[in-house]
Amino acid sequence: MIIAIDGPAGAGKSTVARKVSEILGFMFIDTGAIYRAVTYSLIKDNINLGNKEELECYLNRIDLIYTSDHIYFQGSIIDREIREEPISSKTSDYSKNPVIRSFATGFQRKLAENNDVVMEGRDIGTVVFPNADFKFFLTASHEVRGRRRYKELKKSDNGVSLEETIEAIRIRDKNDSNRELAPLKKAADAVEIDTSNIGIDQVIDAIIGYIRMED
Ligand code: DC
Repeated sequence: MIIAIDGPAGAGKSTVARKVSEILGFMFIDTGAIYRAVTYSLIKDNINLGNKEELECYLNRIDLIYTSDHIYFQGSIIDREIREEPISSKTSDYSKNPVIRSFATGFQRKLAENNDVVMEGRDIGTVVFPNADFKFFLTASHEVRGRRRYKELKKSDNGVSLEETIEAIRIRDKNDSNRELAPLKKAADAVEIDTSNIGIDQVIDAIIGYIRMED
């Protein structure tokens, strides 16, 4: 079974999707982490995005392993590195590239081949799995999402302000929604949940309730 959870940065997708996957005993797949890891590795290895052949060749051989708990590049866990700047803002740019999107989409489909999954991202219900069994689209205001992201960032104490965080979210949304390929968009048949004024537990209950009711 495939459960798709899409939405913008800071809408609570990861927390919700992880919890829903635990309740159902499904594999959790954070596709943003996959785009981040690809961006991280391309920057680290100095790969020029302008050279399509070089990029394809690199991605064909990339040593990237995704599990529900960690993401590995060349055998090392890179969970923390992929959440830091400049990777966050660069990922939004890199994920516009058709070669990178095609690689990431294939990678994500493969992960779901032998597993029941809860997959979260931007284009899961529209592009990666248009026939997903269940589709949800989480939203929240910029302000609320900025505050959530700020709280997360503050844990690693990297000195960013709340205003900068809200602005970064605004720019990333614009980028993700306006790109030509697989933009951030609610699938016509997705259930939309605005998480601005409700707690994460209520969102999880709503999703689980919906799945159990329909299944
Ligand atoms: O979910 P996240 O914030 O970790 O995602 C990081 C970036 O990756 C996001 O700005 C856009 C890109 N992304 C994407 O293009 N498609 C996805 N399915 C998931 C993420």
